Amino acid sequence: MIRTILVATTNPGKLEELTALLGQASRDIKWLSLKEFPDIPEMVEDGETFADNARKKALGYANAAGLWTIADDSGLVIDALNGAPGVYSARYAADECSSSNRKTMDRANWEKVLRQLKDIPDKKRTARFVCHLCLASPQKILLETTGTIEGVINHCPVGENGFGYDPIFYISFVDKTAAQLDNHEKNGISHRGNAIRQFKPLLENLLKQ
Ligand code: IMP
Repeated sequence: MIRTILVATTNPGKLEELTALLGQASRDIKWLSLKEFPDIPEMVEDGETFADNARKKALGYANAAGLWTIADDSGLVIDALNGAPGVYSARYAADECSSSNRKTMDRANWEKVLRQLKDIPDKKRTARFVCHLCLASPQKILLETTGTIEGVINHCPVGENGFGYDPIFYISFVDKTAAQLDNHEKNGISHRGNAIRQFKPLLENLLKQ
C-alpha cells in the first residue's frame, strides 16, 4: 500500500534531505510538502521546547491535511547562556533587528551571541545544535527522535556555507566551523542528519506493522 506522508516544510532543501534518507525506509511512500497545501494556516511555534514545537506542528498539520505528517524543530543551545537561544534561535536578535531577510537576521543573531559571550573563556563556550523530529497521524504522535551535534562557539565567524549560526559553531572533531562544511559533510554529522538516521529504522518498522 502506498503511504502518503506530508513533510511540514516549504523549504526545498529540508524536504530533499529528509526524503532522500527516509525514502530508503520504503519505496511505497509518496512525499508531499506544505507547498501542496497553501490553504493550511501556519502553526505558531510557541512551545517551550523543541519537542513541544515539533509535536504541535506534526499533529496540527496532520489534522489539517488528514495525513501522516513529519515536522521538526531545531536550534542552538548555549550552556553559558542557560540554553539560549534555544526555541528562539530563528529570531534571537528580533529585539534589535526587524529584517525579514533571512541572511540579515542570521547575521544579527550570531552577532548578538558573540557579544553576549565576549568575556566567556573557551572552555565555557560549549554548545549544541538540537533537532527534534516527530511523525504524527491526525490522532496521535507515532514516532519521535532527537539528534544533536556538540560544538564550541567561536570568537569570530569563519566559513561561507550553511545558514543560521553555522559560521560561529566550531566542531572540534572535524576542526572546522559548520560553515566550512559542504552540504554533504554537514548532513553526515549534523543534529538534523542524526535525528533522521535514528528515525529511519523506526519508520521502517512502523510501515511493516
Ligand atoms: P528550524 O527549526 O530548522 O527552522 O531552525 C530554527 C533556527 O535554528 C534557524 O533559523 C537557525 O537560526 C537555527 N538553526 C537550526 N539548525 C541550524 C543549523 O544547522 N545551522 C545553523 N543554525 C541552525
